[in-house]
Amino acid sequence: MPSVLLATFKPFNKIAVDGIEKICKDNGLTFGKIEGYKTQEELYSAAESAEACIVRSDKLDEEFFNRAKNLKIVVRAGAGVDTIDLDAASKHHVVVENTPGQNANAVAEMVFALLIAMKRNHFDATSGREIRGSTLGLYGCGNVSRAMIEVSKGFAMKCYSYDPFLSDEQIKECGAEPLHDLKELFKCDIVSLHVPATPQTINSINEDLMSLMPENGVLVDAARSEVIDEDSVISIFQKRPDLGYISDVGFTKIDELREKIGAAQLKKQLIVTPKKMGAQTLESNVNAGLTAIKQISAYFKDGSTIHQVNGKAF
Ligand code: 3PG
Repeated sequence: MPSVLLATFKPFNKIAVDGIEKICKDNGLTFGKIEGYKTQEELYSAAESAEACIVRSDKLDEEFFNRAKNLKIVVRAGAGVDTIDLDAASKHHVVVENTPGQNANAVAEMVFALLIAMKRNHFDATSGREIRGSTLGLYGCGNVSRAMIEVSKGFAMKCYSYDPFLSDEQIKECGAEPLHDLKELFKCDIVSLHVPATPQTINSINEDLMSLMPENGVLVDAARSEVIDEDSVISIFQKRPDLGYISDVGFTKIDELREKIGAAQLKKQLIVTPKKMGAQTLESNVNAGLTAIKQISAYFKDGSTIHQVNGKAF
């Protein structure tokens, strides 16, 4: 019986975990889990006998693949695979898959919730602003941006998107106006980043771009921390106290920013969640988690590889 390990330092909702366990049972797979672990060593030793693994943004480095000698397949229950050493996985003949789109709605809902919280001054009894009719600029037009566009319809927003990997037609089909220059996107009232961390996107969001934002513009990063240059945020916030930044990817230099602009202004201009809360809902845990275990079951049943991300042949 192939053994499946659910390894999540950020645990899924119990309903999702129970669902994964049931699918394992129904398909002749044994189930084990390690949740909320604190060290890589705990992860390595838990994975030593596993033949399949379900993970979130858990760090699967070379040592993980060296130690997980029986491993055949890893499914990332989510989209981003930047925390997985894909070359090491391929070297050890491990199939890596993801479950694109399964947590997109959760991220989109969170972004709108945070936008409203910021625009309404955290409901502190002062008079705030509405987001209805704002322009929304989406960097990347993948699953999360598409979910954003759906939600934005209720707020009568006009959506724009810059995505160098899609044609104008594809972007229009998603319901956004295509733009061909990232600078154009920063003329929108709200700019939301939905791109992976790649050599092209890392540190690409800088002061030059942020300075193009209109009065009271808000930038949102619910994608990857590497995309934003934090020094640029610190610098532009000192010149533009009207701008806002919402981060679901942490803000490592928050003490420096507080020192530069003061605690009251920081509260006005910045919202930072406990890191990466976008996909942390029952629904997306169930969607991504059950999709992951179904992909694993299919693999052990007939060798099918669905959404493989580390190349077909090795
Ligand atoms: C993803 O890449 O799917 C999202 O960033 C969610 O990541 P998480 O599963 O770690 O919350």
